[in-house]
Amino acid sequence: MCGIVGYIGNRDAYPILIKGLHRLEYRGYDSAGIALINKENELSVYKTKGRVQDLEEFSKSKDITGNIGIAHTRWATHGEPNNVNAHPHYSQSESLALIHNGIIENYAVIKKELLQKGYTFQSSTDTEVLVQLIEYIKSTNQCDLFTAVQLALNQVVGAYAIAVLERGNPNCIIAARKSSPLVIGIGDDEFFLGSDASPIVEYTNKVIYLDDEEIAIIERGKTEPKIVTISNVQKTHKIKELEMNLSQLEKGGFSHFMLKEIFEQPETLKNCMSGRVNQEATNVILSGIIDHKEKFLEAKRILIIACGTSWHAGLIGEYLIEEFCRIPVEVEYSSEFRYRNPVINSTDIVIAISQSGETADTLAAVELARKAGAFVYGVCNVVGSSIPRNTDSGSYTHCGPEIGVASTKAFTAQVMVLTMIALTLANQKGTIKQEEYEGILKELLLIPNKIEKILALNEQIKQLASIFTYAHNFIYLGRGFSYPVALEGALKLKEISYIHAEGYPAAEMKHGPIALIDNEMPIVAIASDNAIHEKIVSNIQEIKARKGRVIAIISEGDTEIKSMADHCIEIPKTKECLSPLLSCIPLQLLAYHIAVTKNRDVDMPRNLAKSVTVE
Ligand code: F6R
Repeated sequence: MCGIVGYIGNRDAYPILIKGLHRLEYRGYDSAGIALINKENELSVYKTKGRVQDLEEFSKSKDITGNIGIAHTRWATHGEPNNVNAHPHYSQSESLALIHNGIIENYAVIKKELLQKGYTFQSSTDTEVLVQLIEYIKSTNQCDLFTAVQLALNQVVGAYAIAVLERGNPNCIIAARKSSPLVIGIGDDEFFLGSDASPIVEYTNKVIYLDDEEIAIIERGKTEPKIVTISNVQKTHKIKELEMNLSQLEKGGFSHFMLKEIFEQPETLKNCMSGRVNQEATNVILSGIIDHKEKFLEAKRILIIACGTSWHAGLIGEYLIEEFCRIPVEVEYSSEFRYRNPVINSTDIVIAISQSGETADTLAAVELARKAGAFVYGVCNVVGSSIPRNTDSGSYTHCGPEIGVASTKAFTAQVMVLTMIALTLANQKGTIKQEEYEGILKELLLIPNKIEKILALNEQIKQLASIFTYAHNFIYLGRGFSYPVALEGALKLKEISYIHAEGYPAAEMKHGPIALIDNEMPIVAIASDNAIHEKIVSNIQEIKARKGRVIAIISEGDTEIKSMADHCIEIPKTKECLSPLLSCIPLQLLAYHIAVTKNRDVDMPRNLAKSVTVE
């Protein structure tokens, strides 16, 4: 949650920070703020409720000079989104300014102590407590800023990525992290700071990812930051090269990142398979599995942990792994798993799925599973993020930065990786016949072209969307592999259009939800070919008998459902186990066009932020 950006060098900091905030805005967009030190060594803070654009407006008449600064875009946790709660926060004497991503869990206790010592607070945030604590420690210990930050961080419980500036000290930014990501970009005579690499990539591809409980002293004139842990151990980090490029962070002619990312899927899925599935379609190799083959062959059970869209991908993973590998699989929400004292054995494999690799609940669930002795495998998109760094092995989804808050291309890439996991493992275990294995691989290689065909239906789906903007509720139905797709389709619609939508296994309708059906209710039936096709046909009949309005996703040439449904979207045929990779595409487009027609802010839907790095 929240975006952090910082700059120290010879250029004007303000434009770099503002541009950085725009790139990070997907992480949170309740309020934004900036702190700068000018040539006279004065420290100024400008902040406002609203978006980065509002901050630019607000700072127009202000002194925005200086070549050192920090900036923040917020997703509110403590305290409502308003001007006062926006970051940066000043310390009591206004000699320090601090930005923070995360949650200080013991802030109330510290605040009470500081209040007793005469400190006063402007905001209701935990962040202001931290900056006041640093100032208090600095003045009582008569120490430098770095030592004060170090001592303060030893007192706090919780998660943080912070950056601190000090009035009269224009040559240094202090930054630190625990459980919230922080990246330092190294340029020529300049440094950048970001909660991810997106505000940095335009200037340098050399970066250092801070580890937990590390503090960086980023000083003008130095070639590298000095890194020390909160318990005072000096650290050296290898400088890494960014894989990201600038065009991946821009809309490239599309009206929204979400639409761009939907249209990128043929390419992202090719990238995901590249070097893994051979062109002859005779083999798939995931090195993360092959390198730990024994562990996987011994596994008695696989647990999948994830949140949101990634959890939906996990459900598809369950169907795939059970079908082909004959290993029992359980899929859990990370947030439930971490707090319910689950049974975890050393013969379990835990697969953690996360686009960002930073979701707090999934990260905590990973730690729990590792402590219990399970082998933990990460399926993540963001290279170098916390989950891949805290797992025993894993596979990246390689779909490039996902900026749209609603996940699209990350979902299909996760499903693709899970398919490759299932096939690699089944082949190693001998639970799949060579003919079936090669048949699926052959079909897998055709998926990107088939998605191209579905994307060509964009106009048709847009027309369809315009018919249904009246609706306040939607139901999505599917069976087998299409059931998780129904859940995902409903989530996409909810989060960007604010229309209530529910996904159900189609046969469950008659156990209650069918009572909701009337001639106003749109039902999206994911009814592409599968082994129990006639069952979903009868579920559609049940809905039509109650006058529901059916939008069916069908396989090309399905005249039976076509004659029943009110509207159909025809998608290419594929193998049933791969059908989610195709059937989710029209649902992404439908949600997108409904949201656009309703004038919603598709890339930054209300109340949401891209990665949930707090509980
Ligand atoms: C929905 C969406 C969220 C995420 C969830 C997990 O479109 O994006 O539901 O899927 O917050 O995030 P990651 O995958 O980063 O762990």
